[in-house]
Amino acid sequence: MAPRSLIVGNWKMNMNCLSSKTLAADIIQNVSSKTIELAICPPFVYLLPVSLLLSSSKVLLGGQDCHNYKSGAHTGDIAPEMLVDLGCTYVILGHSERRICHNENNLVVRSKAKAAIEAGLIPIICVGETENERSAGKALEVVDKQIRGSLPERLNSNNLVVAYEPIWAIGTGRIPNIEYISIVHSHIRNILGDICYDAVNIRVLYGGSVKPDNAKKLMSVINVNGALVGSSSLQAADFLAIAEEMS
Ligand code: PGA
Repeated sequence: MAPRSLIVGNWKMNMNCLSSKTLAADIIQNVSSKTIELAICPPFVYLLPVSLLLSSSKVLLGGQDCHNYKSGAHTGDIAPEMLVDLGCTYVILGHSERRICHNENNLVVRSKAKAAIEAGLIPIICVGETENERSAGKALEVVDKQIRGSLPERLNSNNLVVAYEPIWAIGTGRIPNIEYISIVHSHIRNILGDICYDAVNIRVLYGGSVKPDNAKKLMSVINVNGALVGSSSLQAADFLAIAEEMS
């Protein structure tokens, strides 16, 4: 049986306090009872108001990053325990925007993932190739290195989600063809098989320009178990339409 699907909204550095609450309320009010698992990841400063709204709903909460220490002199950082304190279930780690703009390499992602798991969070670990790497035929090699380098030990389907996000597809409106996605996702499943005892149950999400009109097609790919959604998660109607298409 395929793993239970998951759709995650990554709000990135968007919204304000009021629009965050409005968007969360809209999602909660309109989510269908049949919809698969949904999670939203607002900016840190809006986690609390959103969390208060989500407490009576089945929509889950996630952070967009966390530090690898529990506390201490780390100005501007957020500990995994703080995310748990605010009701988070998930944390996105190793997003390409963090890998590129904050120089986060595999070792950093790995130590954050270890800390997140110890705190009781489920990391959503992102991997994916650049346009140049894709053109050079290196996508599988890049993803292989990122997964083996970013995943801590003792992972299983209860404490890990992987997101394949080709960097050239993020925010561009372009998605790889279905065959390409299928090849990369089965490659990821095989790598997870080397590392985890129940790899077959680990959710592997696709991310990068997921929209209501391509969601069904993406979900039809074997080994795609949901989506990490950026810009289309900023409108309740689009986000829920994606969830419906993928249910
Ligand atoms: P996008 O972003 O859906 O806007 O392409 C996806 C992501 O970066 O997680």
